[in-house]
Amino acid sequence: MSNRFYVTTPIYYVNDVPHIGHAYTTVACDMLARYKRAQGHEVFFLTGTDEHGQKVEKAAQAKGETPLELADRVVKRYQSLWQKLNISHTDFIRTSQERHKKGVRKLFEQLFASGDIYLGEYEDWYCTPCETFWTETQLMDGCCPDCGRPTDKLKEESYFFRMSKYQDQLLKHIEENPDFIQPRTRRNEILNFVREGLRDLSISRTSFSWGIPVPGNEKHVIYVWFDALTNYITALGYPDDPEGYCRKFWPADVHIIGKDILRFHTVYWPTFLLAAGMPLPRKVFAHGWWTVEGQKMSKSLQNVVEPNMLVDKYGVDAIRYFLLREVPFGLDGDFSHAALIHRINSDLANDLGNLLSRSTAMLNKYFDGILPEPVERCAEDETFVAAFAETVRKVDAFMNELAFNKALQATWELIGLGNKYIDDTAPWALAKDENQKERLGTIMYNLLDSLRLVALLIAPVMPDTAGKILALLGDEAEAVTLAGNDCWGILKPGTKIAKAKPLFPRIEAE
Ligand code: ME8
Ligand code: MG
Repeated sequence: MSNRFYVTTPIYYVNDVPHIGHAYTTVACDMLARYKRAQGHEVFFLTGTDEHGQKVEKAAQAKGETPLELADRVVKRYQSLWQKLNISHTDFIRTSQERHKKGVRKLFEQLFASGDIYLGEYEDWYCTPCETFWTETQLMDGCCPDCGRPTDKLKEESYFFRMSKYQDQLLKHIEENPDFIQPRTRRNEILNFVREGLRDLSISRTSFSWGIPVPGNEKHVIYVWFDALTNYITALGYPDDPEGYCRKFWPADVHIIGKDILRFHTVYWPTFLLAAGMPLPRKVFAHGWWTVEGQKMSKSLQNVVEPNMLVDKYGVDAIRYFLLREVPFGLDGDFSHAALIHRINSDLANDLGNLLSRSTAMLNKYFDGILPEPVERCAEDETFVAAFAETVRKVDAFMNELAFNKALQATWELIGLGNKYIDDTAPWALAKDENQKERLGTIMYNLLDSLRLVALLIAPVMPDTAGKILALLGDEAEAVTLAGNDCWGILKPGTKIAKAKPLFPRIEAE
């Protein structure tokens, strides 16, 4: 297994400010990146912004700004949100940066030189909100089949990419690599699409100017998706690769995206790479779509969920947890305040909060907060302790499938077992009998050590909370690695552990 891991978010358009949907993808990537790092992988985690194209140009015009002024302003919104959400990206790429533009020009030139890009003429329908061309037959009542909005007829000289040439190669790759496109339903969608046949793709425009000029023919700008997709390699340093990141991290282990941009990532991008003679990403995972209180999120409905406000109100870890726990990754989900409050109260305040506060309170009451030495195990200890390794195994399998919700569920099963272990062993009864002191000490040890493991397992999704728990357990030094610490018996007897303050106060529904 390679010890390097490269994960990417989409680069988000700057014509709009970030909302809960953008936060979702980015938090998912962050959980994966942190998990892989904790296992000892060297991780490159990329995010950024998509700043070119007609959509951004129009948005800037409407606000009386230049596109770059708009981008500079909105980029700050993204960057400050990622900071607030504790996102641990390695790099943030902007497509307006010279390092990116240089790489895009290079890729364009290379494909032109090899004959896979040629100059032709275009006559088709264009959906500006989706930045996508459609043929007459693909339109639905004259509108974009994806978003339903009106399209414009465009006739212009254009550079084309010979996508048709790579149809069979792409099809073969998808068929031979069942995990290349996930989830399965998305893979089937793309298989059908490719089997229907690929047309050559228009990859330049002359009707506006906000983009990367075509090298040698500056009245054309490079199509925004050719430009944007290339970010996944320009951020690594393509084509010069001064840091060696391209060699080290390409191909990406996974591009995590929303289902709205599946085709760009699983048809366009792989065929560009095939033409360039570069390896394809190992996996593209398209997650589902969030609605809000049952409705599509939209500016006109004024129901766009603003992540900053949520973090201020509920705390960063609660939001991160909710996003990844609530909906199976890959399926659509609905955001509601009731569901969020329910998760916080039941999973965080109750299950996790109680295990921590009961365990540390009893340790302080019965042992003055000094962690005892574990002695002999009984059957109920064996069951509980066996669950440590079993949970680690399950979490790892689920994380590798990007089943974030199941990984969290598995961790919460261990938390549930901890609370049950307290109920079953009834330490308060044992405390009345001096002869049971060793037995009581063993129970306390197992509980506190389970909390240590729980902290390591939740660290990728709730880094602040995990840090608080580990600090309380006097185990900060170990906080970063799962590797070597993912088993029973790591806490040192004799450690002084204070009574925990509530991690997540219960929220009363409004
Ligand atoms: O498409 N539910 O950028 P974009 C879930 N620049 N995820 C959502 C969402 C929702 N309601 N709304 C947005 C672009 N997303 C291009 C990408 S990549 C080379 C170029 C997330 O700003 C989801 O990840 O429109 C989706 O794919 C992405 O934001 C689209 O962001
Ligand atoms: Mg979009």
